[in-house]
Amino acid sequence: MKIIIAGASGKIGTEVCNSLKGKHDIIRVGFRNGDITCDYTDPDSVNNMFQKVGQFDALISVIGNDSVFKPYESLNDEDYTYGFERKFLGQVRFVKLGEPCITDNGVFVLTSGFLSHYPNPASIATGPLNAAIDTFVNNTAPILQRGIRLNVVSPAPVVNSGQTGLGLVTAKETAQYYVDAVEGSFSGKVLRAWGGLQLPVEGDFRSTTTILG
Ligand SMILES: NC(=O)c1ccc[n+]([C@@H]2O[C@H](COP(=O)([O-])OP(=O)(O)OC[C@H]3O[C@@H](n4cnc5c(N)ncnc54)[C@H](OP(=O)(O)O)[C@@H]3O)[C@@H](O)[C@H]2O)c1
Repeated sequence: MKIIIAGASGKIGTEVCNSLKGKHDIIRVGFRNGDITCDYTDPDSVNNMFQKVGQFDALISVIGNDSVFKPYESLNDEDYTYGFERKFLGQVRFVKLGEPCITDNGVFVLTSGFLSHYPNPASIATGPLNAAIDTFVNNTAPILQRGIRLNVVSPAPVVNSGQTGLGLVTAKETAQYYVDAVEGSFSGKVLRAWGGLQLPVEGDFRSTTTILG
């Protein structure tokens, strides 16, 4: 498969590349680094990237620095807008602008995060956007045409091997979920790389400090 990895040089992106290279034709995309550079907040830049790539079979979006972490009391409109334009709109844009160039039965894999369900006091401008991406995938997958699939990986905090525990994962473990999302045949799924944490009962939003100590 010809696979675009946007955010390829990042913490998770590097391991996603390692897990897929050799088996697939990888195109590394980043803001400054990669085979092709692209700013996913800019539609022209994203269109240029798709033009350079041509037809492709899969796109994995794993771009970082995509939301603001601050105490709730000091968050302002700009902070929420920053995350919305990146974590939500940037990823939605990849699907919208990439659709004409992806092959029949191709697949998009986006990234959200466990802060949607395990918030902390500094994650209020992040968690809701993770939930929005999960819902976008869930709602949009069934209406995509030509057999195109759409999935999302929701990582827990990424740590080095040896530091793992409940609610913690390594980048390598997380990468496997992206591989499954690409190489599987399912669509509309949220793949939770949550280090053993379960989906909380609806409405039971507890802070990570309560759950994880
Ligand atoms: N790491 C974690 O613990 C964790 C936990 C839960 C969820 N997540 C989510 O997983 C995703 C990836 O996280 P990460 O920690 O692996 O990220 P990261 O290491 O900060 O990733 C940085 C990557 O994003 C690219 N990038 C940054 N801004 C860009 C832009 N405007 N347009 C295009 N590319 C851009 C960078 O390109 P250049 O190198 O070229 O600048 C680089 O390849 C994020 O959505 C994050 O919220 C991460």
